[in-house]
Amino acid sequence: MNTVVLGLQFGDEGKGKIVDIFSEFTDIAVRFNGGGNAGHTIKVDDRKIVLHYLPSAVLHEHVELILANGMVIDPIEVEKEINTLEELGIPVRKRVKISGAAHLIRLVHLERDLQVNKITGIGTTGKGIGPCYTDKIARYGVRVREISAPLVKILPNCSQYLHHCIDDGKRVLFEGAQGFLLDIDHGTYPFVTSSSTGIGGVFSGSGIGPMDIDRITGVFKAYTTRVGNGPFPTEITDPQDKNKHHLTIKGNEFGSTTGRKRRVGWLDIPALIYAIRANTVDELAMTKLDILSGIDPIKVCTGYKVNGHKVNYFPVHELSDAEPIYHEVPGWQEKIGDVEQFQDLPVAARNYIKMIETYISSRLGWGGISIISIGPDRSQLIRR
Ligand code: IMP
Ligand code: MG
Repeated sequence: MNTVVLGLQFGDEGKGKIVDIFSEFTDIAVRFNGGGNAGHTIKVDDRKIVLHYLPSAVLHEHVELILANGMVIDPIEVEKEINTLEELGIPVRKRVKISGAAHLIRLVHLERDLQVNKITGIGTTGKGIGPCYTDKIARYGVRVREISAPLVKILPNCSQYLHHCIDDGKRVLFEGAQGFLLDIDHGTYPFVTSSSTGIGGVFSGSGIGPMDIDRITGVFKAYTTRVGNGPFPTEITDPQDKNKHHLTIKGNEFGSTTGRKRRVGWLDIPALIYAIRANTVDELAMTKLDILSGIDPIKVCTGYKVNGHKVNYFPVHELSDAEPIYHEVPGWQEKIGDVEQFQDLPVAARNYIKMIETYISSRLGWGGISIISIGPDRSQLIRR
């Protein structure tokens, strides 16, 4: 059973928590895109640690960790992460393998990232991602295989290694970084990251094929956030808006890589449908439903007006002429963090989920949300 976990919005959907749940049934975890721009916070005892490179499965000691060819690697940062965890007693070094074909982020990339960002105004994470991929595509990049005395194992051929593991019956989990709306081709270009964050990135970024995948899990938040600049049609922009404040504070919406406050807004169903379809997602996980407790009514975007015409698709390349059409639904006040069964959720919460499912299935023929996360802990999960 090989699984892909993808973010369906602008990143920070809570993929790490879903990966954590799947890790028990995983032998090998693979990162296939991006680099230190990704960030997820894990708790070891009472310490919070932010990881940028290592897959979220890292706390599961039986899982082998692969940084595949599609990634861009800052070896100093990787080394720091490994050491931090090893000092806390978590064996990591022996479990990590890096593809020799992944590209190296160098000082010049970090400098260029900051310079270029001043001109483009994209609001990058400053981790050298864009410039490193630029050199890769221009064919004068430097790859991990050039490191003369690597401190972890380097894979001469990531693709063949994974084939070998899959043929041996190992269970592989491919962990996406960022989200589909930040995809270099399919996102809100030029306000995107420089890699393929969707299903295509799995294939080019690790060298396996579509038939090697058994399940594609798409993760989305019950609302939307975005960090950095670029179109965000359902953003709540009024600084005085109490819902904006609620989502930021209750949702703790601060970037884990840069500490920037994330922009917050309502769920965008057409965008969700776009991401599900483009990635042939076949399982849906919704996160942070608990954060919506206390917001009433809740708004959801169900369509768009583009140049005055109503459309039901996400106008990803015409967002400057588009205006979201909202639907308002009743909210709920109850805290839901310890609910165990779907039927024990407040009726308004159940209706919120059912409404989303109805919209998705009316377009795609299916739309069941089978995993609902209601808090940061592993146990705060409803399965349907
Ligand atoms: P870059 O990936 O550093 O080039 O940044 C490009 C854009 O993607 C910026 O808007 C970043 O804030 C955003 N971004 C990059 N990585 C992440 C992530 O892991 N989560 C959320 N946003 C991200
Ligand atoms: Mg993150």
